[in-house]
Amino acid sequence: ERKQIRRDMAIYRPQRHPLPLVSQMLVSDIDNTLLGDRAALRRFLATLRATPSNLGFGIATGRTLESTLKILKEWGVPLPDVLITAVGSEINYGLELRPDIRWQNLIKYSWRRDAVEEALREVPGLILQSPENQREFKLSYNVDPEALPPISKIRALLREQKLSANLIYSRQAYLDILPLRASKGRAIRYLAYKWGLPLRAFLVAGDSGNDHEMLIGDTLGVVVANHSPELASLRGDEQIYFANARYADGITEGMAHYAFGISTL
Ligand code: GLC
Ligand code: MG
Repeated sequence: ERKQIRRDMAIYRPQRHPLPLVSQMLVSDIDNTLLGDRAALRRFLATLRATPSNLGFGIATGRTLESTLKILKEWGVPLPDVLITAVGSEINYGLELRPDIRWQNLIKYSWRRDAVEEALREVPGLILQSPENQREFKLSYNVDPEALPPISKIRALLREQKLSANLIYSRQAYLDILPLRASKGRAIRYLAYKWGLPLRAFLVAGDSGNDHEMLIGDTLGVVVANHSPELASLRGDEQIYFANARYADGITEGMAHYAFGISTL
C-alpha cells in the first residue's frame, strides 16, 4: 500500500532540488495548521509552488508516517521533502521516505519506554491511545483533563523514579511522552545542523501544544489564528508571528510577513 501511495504522491510533487541544496525550509504542522480549510490550502499550495526551487517543504506532526501519507493524499498535498512524524521522534526524507537512522540513535539515549509506561499506570485521567499511535519513541495517551493531575506532578513522578522523558501536552486532550532528546523542535534543530543552515532559514508554523517547543526556537515562527489556548502565552515574542488568518491562510500570511521564499539570498 505504501508503494502505491508513493507512486500517487510522485505525481503531485514539484521538481525541487535534493535536500542538501535547499537554502530555506518551510516546516508546517498538519492538523489545524496546513489542513482544515480546503480553499486556504489551495491558496497556500499555489504560493508554495511559486517559491524558488531551493526552498524545501517539510511537515512536523504528531501523526505516524502512514497516517501522514494518507491524510496528505486525501487533501491533495504534494509529498513533502522531509516528514517529521510521531511528534519529532521520526524523520523520513524524499520520495523514498528514507528514515533517518542516525536521529533514532541520537534520541534513544536513556529512553526506557516500558518503565515509563509502568510508572504512569496508576495516574488518573490517562488513557493509552490505540496501538497504531504507539511508536518505539512515542508513548501516547488520551487525557481526561478533569481527572489528570498537573503535568508538573507527572514530571516529578517520573523524575523520582529516575526516568527521563519529554512530556508534551496538547489541546487538553493528548499527552505524548518522548525520549528527552526528541521533539518537533529538536528534530528541526538537528536538520539545521545536518545541512549547515542557520535556524532563521526555517519558517515553522503550528497551532497547538505539540508545536510550542518548535515555535520558541530561533526559527521564524508562525501561529495560525485558529490556534489552541496553550499557545496564547507566546504572543509578544518577536520571532513568533501571530497570523490574523486561519489554517493554511495563516501560513501564507506568515510567509509574507517574513518575506520568506521571496528572495533566497
Ligand atoms: C496526533 C497523534 C496522537 C498525538 C497527538 C498530539 O493526533 O495521532 O498520537 O497524541 O497528535 O501530539
Ligand atoms: Mg496541529
